[in-house]
Formats: sequence, structure tokens, C-alpha cells
Amino acid sequence: EQSTVTLTTATPVTLPDAQTVTEVEHYTDSLFRFRVTRPASLRFRSGEFVMIGLMSDLDPVTGKQKPLLRAYSIASPAWDDTLQFYSIKVKDGPLTSKLQHIKPGDQVILRPKPVGTLVHDALTPAKRIWFFSTGTGIAPFASLLREPETYERFEQVILTHSCRDLAELKFGQELVEETKNDILVGEEAQSKLIYYPTTTREPSAKMGRITTVLEDGTLFADLKIADFNAENDRAMVCGSMGLNTDMKRILEAYGLREGANSDPGDYVIEKAFVG
Ligand code: A2P
Repeated sequence: EQSTVTLTTATPVTLPDAQTVTEVEHYTDSLFRFRVTRPASLRFRSGEFVMIGLMSDLDPVTGKQKPLLRAYSIASPAWDDTLQFYSIKVKDGPLTSKLQHIKPGDQVILRPKPVGTLVHDALTPAKRIWFFSTGTGIAPFASLLREPETYERFEQVILTHSCRDLAELKFGQELVEETKNDILVGEEAQSKLIYYPTTTREPSAKMGRITTVLEDGTLFADLKIADFNAENDRAMVCGSMGLNTDMKRILEAYGLREGANSDPGDYVIEKAFVG
């Protein structure tokens, strides 16, 4: 698909794979979500990511623009009409310093090649699924929580989300509310979905990194879950580098084995995710 768009310069450029922004919501001065139109030909599995971006400013030397692209998890389910994304805003970030200013009607580049490891195909069946996230790492779970397969495959679905402060938890709180009211999965979610948010800096009802409350037993005590093992539990992890490394160690100590699309296992981590 090709279309013409005017960016920061007066010269119209041809934007490849252009999609139109339909909705933008800002949560804090460092977090926002947006929706774009979905290309009719795009098929993806809930939990996957795509490359999203904008054209760079004109290079003063070459006089050219180039696409600035980053991996973004699709934060809406595979059956949805539009595509949702959840993003940080970095003042000097090459892409997000520009992307944070998008408005409905603007265009973004969306490369229609979804990939990723946070998919049902990469996990073997079990009783419970855990979604462990920090910050914008919750995005792929915004897709998987509204995916019917999640509730078909598991008796219990546990979403943990750790952020520095309460304002950063808002996207997740709204997500859980919407999921429980969803026409497709709402009823199942009401009986199966458990939401476990924590803050690490601002005081809240539950404080501490998820890794800390997991290792000291608080998480299991709070959820009244006696055991955690490779037979009953499956996990998906998405967040900061530190979360990924620490969760890998913790899950493997419980005997869980890492899975992949080609070799389903007990847990998966999104390595492409940065933030
Ligand atoms: P903390 O405030 O203790 O660093 P960031 O804002 O830096 O991207 O981090 C997002 C959230 O992830 C914060 O609440 C942060 O906690 C938490 N976090 C960072 N590293 C880890 C880790 N290794 N394990 C668990 N949570 C982590």
C-alpha cells in the first residue's frame, strides 16, 4: 500500500505501508497508547509484534528521509478491527520523540510482518498461565487477555504488572476492566482472570518487584496458590531486561523449560522487546 503524506517538511513524501491513526490516549508524560487502521491483508497471532515507525526528518546533507522503525507488540487481539499499541515517550528518542505527537488522521508506517515468541503455539497445555510484565511490557498481554484461546487452553489466567508508580498502572487497570466486559471473553475472564499489579516506587496496596514477591512467597500467599510447577504452570514474560533475566532464572529453578514456535515448552520470553 502506498499513500502520500506531508510530514514536518513542505515536501510530500511517499510513505510505504501507511496506516491511519484512529485514536490516541496519553497516560503520563512518558506513556501513551494509540490505535491505527488494520491492513485488510494483515494476519497475526495474538501476542506478536510488528515494526512501526515514521519517516525521519530531512537529512541536511543528503536531503533524504528514511524510515525510523521499532518493534511494537500489538496490544489488541487477532480478531480486532483496529490495531492498538502502547508506547513510552523518550524526549531524545529518535522515534518516540516524534511518535508521541501523532493525532487521529495522521499516518504511521506499519510493516505487515508480524512475528514473536509470546504466542500460544510456543507453549504446551497446562492448568494455569502466568503473564509477567513490567512497564509497556504489558502490551502483548493486552492482546492475549482478549484472545479466546487463552481461556480455552487454561483454567486460570494470572496477569502481573509492575510499574514504578500508580499512574503507570492505569493502562493495565483499564485493560482488565475492558476484558471482563468484553463480549467475546468477558464471562470467561470474570471467572478465570486474576490481576496482580504492584508498584516499586510509589506507595500502593501492593509494593515490590514481582520477582521479589514471587521469591519470598508473598505472591502465592496472596493468590492462595500452594504450588508452582512444570506440570501445572506456564508463563510468558515481557518487560525490562532485568525482569527477563531474573524470571528466566526463577522459572528454570521451578523446572520450567523455555519454549519456541518450533518447539513448544513451559515458558517464553520476548527478547525483541526493549523498554
Ligand atoms: P524498580 O523501580 O525497582 O527498578 P523501568 O521504569 O526502569 O523500565 O522499570 C519498570 C518496572 O520494572 C519498575 O517497577 C522496576 O522496578 C521493575 N523492574 C526493573 N528491573 C526489574 C527486575 N530485574 N525484576 C523485576 N522488576 C524489575
